Amino acid sequence: MSPEKSLKVSVLASGTGTNLQALIDQVHGREGIEIIGVASDKPDALALDRASSAGIETASFPATNYSGDRIARDAALADWLRSRGTQLVVMAGYMQIVGPAFLDRFPDAVINLHPALLPAFPGIDAVSQAISYGVKVFGVTVHFVDEGVDSGPVIMQRSVELPDAREVDDVLPHIHAIEHQILPEVVRLFARGAVRIASTHPRRVLVGPLAVLPER
Ligand code: GRF
Repeated sequence: MSPEKSLKVSVLASGTGTNLQALIDQVHGREGIEIIGVASDKPDALALDRASSAGIETASFPATNYSGDRIARDAALADWLRSRGTQLVVMAGYMQIVGPAFLDRFPDAVINLHPALLPAFPGIDAVSQAISYGVKVFGVTVHFVDEGVDSGPVIMQRSVELPDAREVDDVLPHIHAIEHQILPEVVRLFARGAVRIASTHPRRVLVGPLAVLPER
């Protein structure tokens, strides 16, 4: 597929960007997918360096530049993403909430990666929440972003049984390994038009070759 016809993906990341790296390594420039931008709220995020090293354009939108006005920051971020031609926004460790005005600019096209099996353990420190609760099965969710915290429709989940886990470090390597598999998998599905929300059930996401996105 030519780059013009590729699904144009932008990634939002605040941290080390290992999930961004998984996308760069596994899907960028292939299977009809181009990562065309990476943005962060943190100008020094390692994720931005990873993007630059891969020749991907970057930008940062720190809260301090907008005097704490989240709506203004969201608008600037959305303008930048739109100006690049973004069709799918992937939040991969982006530690900010985006508001309704942002989401309206990218209908059914903003997804997030969460290190727990939602709806259990939304919000921050999901893995330590799960350990404190005493669960024996951990996992990862990729979901559409809505106006709540980690509350949008689930696209894909994968679990791992770790009955003896006691510390975050017992769990994290397993979580990351799953994340680095399923996030690229979901982006590939989007590129094939194989993800859509069921018209009869707004929480049910249909994933598979028969699902056709109305538009990219
Ligand atoms: C991931 O564990 C993701 O689930 C969470 O933030 C982490 C980001 O890791 N939302 P990285 O920056 O991709 O390494």
